[in-house]
Amino acid sequence: MAYLNDNYLKLKAGYLFPEIARRVKVFCEQNPEPAKRLIRCGIGDVTEPLPAAVVAALHKSVEELSVRATFRGYGPEQGYDFLRVAIAQNDYRAHGLDVADDEIFVSDGSKCDCGNILDILGHQNRLAISDPVYPVYVDTNVMAGHTGDADAAGAYAGVVYLPCTAQNGFVPEPPSQAVDLIYLCSPNNPTGAVATRAQLTAWVEYARQHRAIILFDAAYEAYITDPAIPHSIYEIPGARECAIEFRSFSKNGGFTGVRCAFTVVPKSLLAQTAAGEFKPLHPLWNRRMSTKFNGVSYFVQRAAEAIYSPEGKTQVRALVEHYLGNAQVLVQGAKAAGLQVFGGVNAPYIWVQTPAGITSWQAFDKILNEANVVITPGSGFGSKGEGYFRISAFNSRANAEEVARRLQTLKW
Ligand code: MLT
Repeated sequence: MAYLNDNYLKLKAGYLFPEIARRVKVFCEQNPEPAKRLIRCGIGDVTEPLPAAVVAALHKSVEELSVRATFRGYGPEQGYDFLRVAIAQNDYRAHGLDVADDEIFVSDGSKCDCGNILDILGHQNRLAISDPVYPVYVDTNVMAGHTGDADAAGAYAGVVYLPCTAQNGFVPEPPSQAVDLIYLCSPNNPTGAVATRAQLTAWVEYARQHRAIILFDAAYEAYITDPAIPHSIYEIPGARECAIEFRSFSKNGGFTGVRCAFTVVPKSLLAQTAAGEFKPLHPLWNRRMSTKFNGVSYFVQRAAEAIYSPEGKTQVRALVEHYLGNAQVLVQGAKAAGLQVFGGVNAPYIWVQTPAGITSWQAFDKILNEANVVITPGSGFGSKGEGYFRISAFNSRANAEEVARRLQTLKW
């Protein structure tokens, strides 16, 4: 008899975004006319075409594969050197940060990496996870059996939740107890908040004191507009000894469909064996990638490399500016609608408080039915997300302006 992984049965309903898609599908089937004016600001999926430099690199590299002399089969599981060098040089060393080429591991997405990293970490780790937060951090730990059951509010036993509220500016503070693994996301999904240098320094000090590891998700770093905000955890002294960083080309280069990301595992990062010895994680992640992954397609890695070309950088900046411009339109629209608004300045997400007495799913239904706009209910990101909803700025300018206008027509 075969057994299933019982941990999956602990998961609440569907994964947030498929659940929203399911509800939107039902709405569209039942309301064909309003469905025609539907605007999707739910999942943070990019809408604008790929940068021209990326498209040119894709064409060129596909052509290479059509010729025997330049054809390539399996590539290195860790990523081609040309991309690892471009990343380490442009994203780190150009900013004075000490990251070696072979500390970069190229992958098909940060969502995957955030889940896969658990392969090399012990089951006994005590977890600290922000609330609200990108649901992947919690769900992958539930799947791996690192939690108990969820309570009525959806909080899993065994997780130290770090409340992110308006009072702390939606940036989590180190807990009073010792934990071993800490998930941080800055700029934050869903709240759009960013951690300051002082806040990240406090986390690095905490991690070093407790020999904990920070899993730092920097997928939205390109959206930071405030020059004082760190783009990388490695800007904080000591982080190479306590942090893994995840970055993605999804939200800067528009790669949500193309798929390419990377994870930085410093060679100086150690974790404890069951026997109490300290060993580096870098060889374990290298081994994991070699065994379970065959690398990202050659042409996708060439496309990612093009992001670092002079024209690629300019085009990516224009894309990011476009979405940040949308964010401002949405912030102004939501404010004009009398709503309390956070985020949208250093992030492509606007975090909006629901009017008193309205739950986040009620807000979702009202905005869907009356404004024909899809947003994401805050409770889908954790219990502290209740009373909020998230608007994604990934859209055309015309749609962002229309959403801003429609929000102002709602009577709460
Ligand atoms: C989101 O909407 O939170 C993101 O698109 C999810 C993701 O990047 O996987």
